[in-house]
Amino acid sequence: MRFQMFASTLLILLFFSNSNFGINFTIVTGQSEKDLLLELKNHLIYDSSLSTKLVQWNETTGYCQWSGVKCDNKSRVSSLDLSSESISGGINDSSSLFRFVHLQSLNLAQNSFDSIELPLGFGKLAELRYLNLSNSGFTGQIPLDFSDLTRLVVLDLSSRFYSSLNLENPNLEKLIHNFTRLRELYLDGVNISAKGYDWCNAISSSLPNLRVLSLSNSYLTGSFNSSLLKLHSLSIIRLDGNTFSAPFPVFFADFPNLRVLTLSSCDLFGMVPEKLFQIKSLQTIDLSNNRELEGSLPHEFPLNGSLQNLLLSYTNFSGYVSESIGSLRMLSNFDLRACVFSGQIPSSIKNLTHLVYLDLSVNQFLGSVPSFALLKYLTVLNLRRNNLTGRVPNSLWEGLENLNFLDLSENSLEGEIPASLFVLPSLKVLYLSNNNFYGSIGDSRSSSSPLEVLDLRVNNFEGPIPRFLFELQNLSSLSLSSNKFSGSIELTDFQKLTNLVNLDLSYNNLSVHVREKVSLSSLFPRLGTLLLASCKLRKVPLLTNQSSLMMLDLSDNQIDGEIPNWIWEAGSGYLRFVNLSHNQFNRFDLRRPVYFDLLDLSSNNFSSSLPANIGNFLKPIVFLSIANNKITGTIPPSLCNPSRLQTLDLSNNSLHGKIPSCLLQSTHIRVLNLGGNNLSGDIPDAFPIGCGLESLDFSWNVLQGNFPKSLTRCTEIEVLNLSHNVLSGRIPASIGNIQKLESLDLSFNGLSGEIPKQTFPESSFLGNEGLCGSPLNKTCSGVISNKFYGLVGS
Ligand SMILES: *[C@@H]1O[C@H](CO)[C@@H](O)[C@H](O)[C@H]1NC(C)=O
Ligand SMILES: *[C@@H]1O[C@H](CO)[C@@H](O)[C@H](O)[C@H]1NC(C)=O
Ligand SMILES: *[C@@H]1O[C@H](CO)[C@@H](O)[C@H](O)[C@H]1NC(C)=O
Ligand SMILES: *[C@@H]1O[C@H](CO)[C@@H](O)[C@H](O)[C@H]1NC(C)=O
Ligand SMILES: *[C@@H]1O[C@H](CO)[C@@H](O)[C@H](O)[C@H]1NC(C)=O
Ligand SMILES: *[C@@H]1O[C@H](CO)[C@@H](O)[C@H](O)[C@H]1NC(C)=O
Ligand SMILES: *[C@@H]1O[C@H](CO)[C@@H](O)[C@H](O)[C@H]1NC(C)=O
Ligand SMILES: *[C@@H]1O[C@H](CO)[C@@H](O)[C@H](O)[C@H]1NC(C)=O
Ligand SMILES: *[C@@H]1O[C@H](CO)[C@@H](O)[C@H](O)[C@H]1NC(C)=O
Ligand SMILES: *[C@@H]1O[C@H](CO)[C@@H](O)[C@H](O)[C@H]1NC(C)=O
Ligand SMILES: *[C@@H]1O[C@H](CO)[C@@H](O)[C@H](O)[C@H]1NC(C)=O
Ligand SMILES: *[C@@H]1O[C@H](CO)[C@@H](O)[C@H](O)[C@H]1NC(C)=O
Repeated sequence: MRFQMFASTLLILLFFSNSNFGINFTIVTGQSEKDLLLELKNHLIYDSSLSTKLVQWNETTGYCQWSGVKCDNKSRVSSLDLSSESISGGINDSSSLFRFVHLQSLNLAQNSFDSIELPLGFGKLAELRYLNLSNSGFTGQIPLDFSDLTRLVVLDLSSRFYSSLNLENPNLEKLIHNFTRLRELYLDGVNISAKGYDWCNAISSSLPNLRVLSLSNSYLTGSFNSSLLKLHSLSIIRLDGNTFSAPFPVFFADFPNLRVLTLSSCDLFGMVPEKLFQIKSLQTIDLSNNRELEGSLPHEFPLNGSLQNLLLSYTNFSGYVSESIGSLRMLSNFDLRACVFSGQIPSSIKNLTHLVYLDLSVNQFLGSVPSFALLKYLTVLNLRRNNLTGRVPNSLWEGLENLNFLDLSENSLEGEIPASLFVLPSLKVLYLSNNNFYGSIGDSRSSSSPLEVLDLRVNNFEGPIPRFLFELQNLSSLSLSSNKFSGSIELTDFQKLTNLVNLDLSYNNLSVHVREKVSLSSLFPRLGTLLLASCKLRKVPLLTNQSSLMMLDLSDNQIDGEIPNWIWEAGSGYLRFVNLSHNQFNRFDLRRPVYFDLLDLSSNNFSSSLPANIGNFLKPIVFLSIANNKITGTIPPSLCNPSRLQTLDLSNNSLHGKIPSCLLQSTHIRVLNLGGNNLSGDIPDAFPIGCGLESLDFSWNVLQGNFPKSLTRCTEIEVLNLSHNVLSGRIPASIGNIQKLESLDLSFNGLSGEIPKQTFPESSFLGNEGLCGSPLNKTCSGVISNKFYGLVGS
């Protein structure tokens, strides 16, 4: 306190003795600077529990020492940094903020001005060199007086919230017209809405000293003008997320000092010149997600190139990656996902010791997997879906201390699985599915592995499930399906894996035993997917209280008896996929609404009739099959009620009675199979306009009456089988216009007329007395002409 009084006295004395001009001015403004700061603080609305600067402003120190405040050598506030102070209001046109006329730097970034429009007044801060309002929460039009800030060197109005600010009046050109000293311009997320060449011309004619141009998600459209090349110093260009719908600006390869170029998701097309990748100063290039953009990587990269980020995913880039990629010593993120690259993966990749992220997935790379040994910073390595072949020796994976994601799935890799993979100290996710890996997986692995996801599906692994898998306590997803694992296991063998969310053991040679009384929810409380198809199960595992269960596949097992009633309640509404087909279940008692998308009960021993209100209990169902049972009775019309039903298969049962016409009136059903029953009566002529049927099978019933004319409204139909019924009448000529029809079988009916002009085999039409024309060898006489029958028919 005492020191402060002394200091300010000293200050006043100093000023008095200093000069005659401006003495009182300095003192007055000096005092008022403090008052102004306090006034500002008083008016600002901010959360004092989150503030680190404003809350500390108090009289114990001089205001020039206050946090966020800096003064010039005349004790005038020259810099104010109130970023991240959770300020939500308190600045308007007459705010004291606009009286700090000596301010050179102002930062209000990262606040939460809650959709308040930017006030008028910033223009008074004519000395500003640095203005940062990024992510501050202001919205609306950028005020006219911003264009008075002609001394600005850095302007940051960017926002990650799309179009929170607008640049309409002033527009971009007006705003920056006199910003001749500007070096860094950030308007990301500002709605600039400039078309065509306007924004290029505005920038190139006004900002000769520009180094950083950052206009991502700014609603720019149209082509680029090479006038931008005038800006010799430009080194950072970020334009992501603007829908330019224009050819790639080839002249961008001519900026001599380019360091960063990001143009992802810009709807660019055309060819990218190779020399772009040879600019020696380049550190980041991101052209990802421009589907039509073409190009290839150069044969020679610059020696000791400085490129750190090379991101081309989801483009149409093609060709080889040359060995000279190894000269990009600094490369740390390399993403070529979903392009059309081919050839070998260069072995010089192992020279890229700074690599952190490498994604070459979904390309056409051939040959063997190169070595990644000793890339100690590598965390993600994705080679999924290529044409890689050969073995993956242990030595490739040594020293990958930080690797936590490895995906080699969907290649043609073979051999034993390298043991070194399971001892990688950071590996959490390992996908090896859809390859030709074989052999047994030995048991000498470290059980302290952090592995969370292990996917070995669709390979040729054999032998017992390795014991060490039962010890991987962090495992949440284990997929072993479609291999040749053998032996007997109990689900309780997995009991240490208490984090298990997904377990898939289907289609092996396993015998999985279930202890009927052990509720799995006590072992695996988070279980969401349980796939045990073809596991020689004799009992249904007890899944009561399994509150996250979403998918259950117990198909192709040996379970008999009644479907346990708790199934209808399992997953507390989350259960969507239930496949119990190919068992020997003989009863089910569905009496409450369920939320399944898919219910497959086909190929069991059900013999009773379907409950009349079954459709009302399956309202959200998309796929329902009860085919290949011995179901009796009639088709309940309630099956017309589920409004998303796309596939209904009741084939090969003992259903009788008529086909409910409401089933045919649906526009959402795509596949309807009622073949192999005893259904009788007419096929209702009720197919609606907008009929979406793709496959219709009513074969092997005793349906009679006329061929339903309205079927010609089903223009999507690909498969039509009405064979082996007692249909009669003429086939409508226009059925031949159904463009998508791939298979047609009308054999063994009493149909007549001329065969529609399609190239189906003779067998599709056999057994119909009245049919004539190709491919049958009976020519149509004049009497059975289209016209004649057309008249009779109508
Ligand atoms: C400050 O001094 C100037 C002359 O130097 C005088 O014109 C002005 O009125 C003074 N202002 C105050 C507030 O004393
Ligand atoms: C006053 O400011 C000083 C530092 O500037 C700080 O340490 C102190 O806690 C503040 N006092 C109050 C009451 O806020
Ligand atoms: C105050 O700073 C200005 C520029 O920042 C400089 O020109 C001037 O010499 C400095 N005055 C003193 C007394 O340090
Ligand atoms: C501006 O804010 C101050 C302080 O919060 C308030 O007193 C004044 O009424 C406001 N002026 C306008 C025009 O809203
Ligand atoms: C603006 O301020 C934010 C928050 O302090 C900072 O992250 C950002 O880099 C600043 N922008 C510029 C151009 O300095
Ligand atoms: C730019 O500055 C000139 C001269 O200082 C002035 O005449 C003109 O109005 C300014 N233009 C804009 C758009 O602010
Ligand atoms: C951007 O601004 C233009 C015109 O200024 C306007 O038509 C458009 O709706 C705005 N877009 C968004 C997303 O606000
Ligand atoms: C492109 O910029 C040049 C100036 O460098 C200008 O002469 C030309 O008119 C511009 N083209 C278009 C289409 O705006
Ligand atoms: C590349 O870098 C290495 C090591 O930093 C250095 O020895 C070599 O001279 C450099 N080569 C070129 C062409 O700059
Ligand atoms: C990779 O490194 C090895 C040895 O460190 C070196 O002989 C080879 O030339 C390098 N390859 C490339 C393409 O840089
Ligand atoms: C890569 O594999 C895919 C699918 O296995 C195949 O269609 C394609 O022809 C293969 N490409 C090459 C270059 O072998
Ligand atoms: C023509 O039809 C008759 C009887 O329908 C049959 O016996 C004969 O094989 C058929 N001829 C040809 C060439 O298919």
